[in-house]
Amino acid sequence: MVNGMSQAALRTDRLELAPLSEDHLPFLVDLNSDAVVHRFLFHRGLTAEETEERLRRALAAAADGLGQWIGSSDGEPIGLWMLQPPHGPSQPRVPDEADLGYRLPQRYWRQGYASEGARELVRHGFEDLGLTRIFAQTMAVNQPSRATMASVGLKFVRIFAEEYDVPIPGQEQGEVEYDVTRERWLTEFGGRHLHDPDPTYTQSTDD
Ligand SMILES: CC(C)(COP(=O)(O)OP(=O)(O)OC[C@H]1O[C@@H](n2cnc3c(N)ncnc32)[C@H](O)[C@@H]1OP(=O)(O)O)[C@@H](O)C(=O)NCCC(=O)NCCS
Repeated sequence: MVNGMSQAALRTDRLELAPLSEDHLPFLVDLNSDAVVHRFLFHRGLTAEETEERLRRALAAAADGLGQWIGSSDGEPIGLWMLQPPHGPSQPRVPDEADLGYRLPQRYWRQGYASEGARELVRHGFEDLGLTRIFAQTMAVNQPSRATMASVGLKFVRIFAEEYDVPIPGQEQGEVEYDVTRERWLTEFGGRHLHDPDPTYTQSTDD
C-alpha cells in the first residue's frame, strides 16, 4: 500500500468518483434517511445528525488512498462507494487488504451503477494502491449486494455470524464474505481492466 497517499478522483464511462467531502452531506442525509436502502444494514433510516457523525468519522478514517467516494453522473450524485481498511468486528486487520462497499438511492438501482463504480475501485485498489486482497461482507439474505460482488469478480469465501444491537430480519442466515486476490484479479481480469496500451507504441519487428 502507498503510505500517506491521498484519495484519488476516479472515473468510469458514466461515473465521476470523487473522494468523500463535507459537500456531500446533503446527498448522504437523503440516501441514509431511506429505511429500504438500509434494510440489511441498520433496518431503519438514519437521522441527519447520525449521518453527519458518520461523515465526520469517514473523513477522519480515510488514509493511504483508501476511503469513501461519491459517484456522480452529469453532475448528479448517484451513490456512495467504499474501499476501506479492514475495520468491522469480523475483519482481521491485515495490511494491504481492503473492504469494498456501495450504497445507492433506490431510484438508481438496477442500472449497472454499483458494479460500474465497484469495478473501478477494485482496479484502483490492485493497480494503483498495490492491495493484495479485496473483500466484501453483507448479510446472506442481501441478494443485490451479493450479485454485485459476484458481478465485479469477487467469489464466496465464508459464512459467519455477527452480533447486532437491534435484530434485523434475515440475520439468522448469517453474513457472507466474498473476495478477490490481486493474483486472481490479474489472471482473470487484469488484461481487461488495465489501461489501454499506448496507441503510439509499435512492436519491434527486429526479433
Ligand atoms: C446493492 C446495490 C448497491 C446494488 O446496486 P445496483 O446499482 O442496483 O447494482 P447493479 O445494477 O450494478 O447490479 C449488479 C449486479 O447485481 C444484480 N442485482 C442488482 N439488484 C439485484 C436484485 N434486487 N436481485 C438480484 N440481482 C440483483 C444485477 O443484475 C447485476 O448482476 P449482473 O452483473 O450479473 O447482471 C443496491 O441494491 C443498494 O444500494 N442496496 C442497498 C444498500 C446495500 O445493501 N448495500 C450493500 C451493503 S453490504
